[in-house]
Amino acid sequence: MSFDPGPSDESEESRTLSLLDRNRIPVHVGCVMDGNGRWAQKRGLPRTDGHAAGEAALMDTVEGCLDAGVRWLTVYAFSTENWRRPADEVRFLMHFNESLLTRRRDELDKKDVRICFSGRRDWRVPRRVMRRMDESAEQTKRNDRLTLTIAFNYGGRAEIVDAVRALVQNGVKPQDVSEKAISKHLYHPEAPDPDLVIRTSGEYRISNFLLWEIAYSELVFTDVLWPDFRREDLYKAIYEFQGRNRRYGKLGS
Ligand code: IPE
Ligand code: IPE
Ligand code: MG
Repeated sequence: MSFDPGPSDESEESRTLSLLDRNRIPVHVGCVMDGNGRWAQKRGLPRTDGHAAGEAALMDTVEGCLDAGVRWLTVYAFSTENWRRPADEVRFLMHFNESLLTRRRDELDKKDVRICFSGRRDWRVPRRVMRRMDESAEQTKRNDRLTLTIAFNYGGRAEIVDAVRALVQNGVKPQDVSEKAISKHLYHPEAPDPDLVIRTSGEYRISNFLLWEIAYSELVFTDVLWPDFRREDLYKAIYEFQGRNRRYGKLGS
């Protein structure tokens, strides 16, 4: 199946959106926002400029979700492994994420977007950043058009470890440990599993994103570097998703 909206007077955005089956829009989309450093390096800029340029991609993707009717968007902003990067880059990312929240939360609030966070609240995340996260979540907690979950200091394995720790702490007996019990102790048990996970920048891996939750997600990989990603790219990924046959181990229809 090829994605060719053909010539039209409409904007590319609305044409690509109009190709989608509105009855089969993924409820939950996950994004591994990768390629910021390479985007900057290609332009002779410092890697951090790539992270800054990723903000426009994120905001346009949110718009795309609102237009298409996606209800949950989870974006991978900082992994538990990203602490291994040079201290300057880590510092930049901490500060940048804090300033993004300060600058964008009112706008997201007005668009009826609920902002959530997923990840470990450990001592390495500066207090100021944590405070901004809490304020943004509090301010937007009643919004319900789109839940934007920012995975920050997030690792899929850490999330499973934390869920198991909670079970043990609650004195759950071995025979009561089940998939349901583990799911209930994840960071956001109320979130549906992602239907579609998109990874940008031509890398074909998951890098510890939502390991438990993506058991049956459809994966779409694109060469587009994250700072260049726009809602049309989201629609293309949804189009590809709609061509897939989700079997869940059963026989296909
Ligand atoms: C993704 O872009 C953002 C984070 C991991 C924080 P990268 O910084 O990984 O960019 P590349 O992969 O080096 O191009
Ligand atoms: C995944 O990207 C993490 C985020 C996008 C936040 P990485 O750039 O850290 O992943 P690897 O190291 O290429 O697997
Ligand atoms: Mg990367």
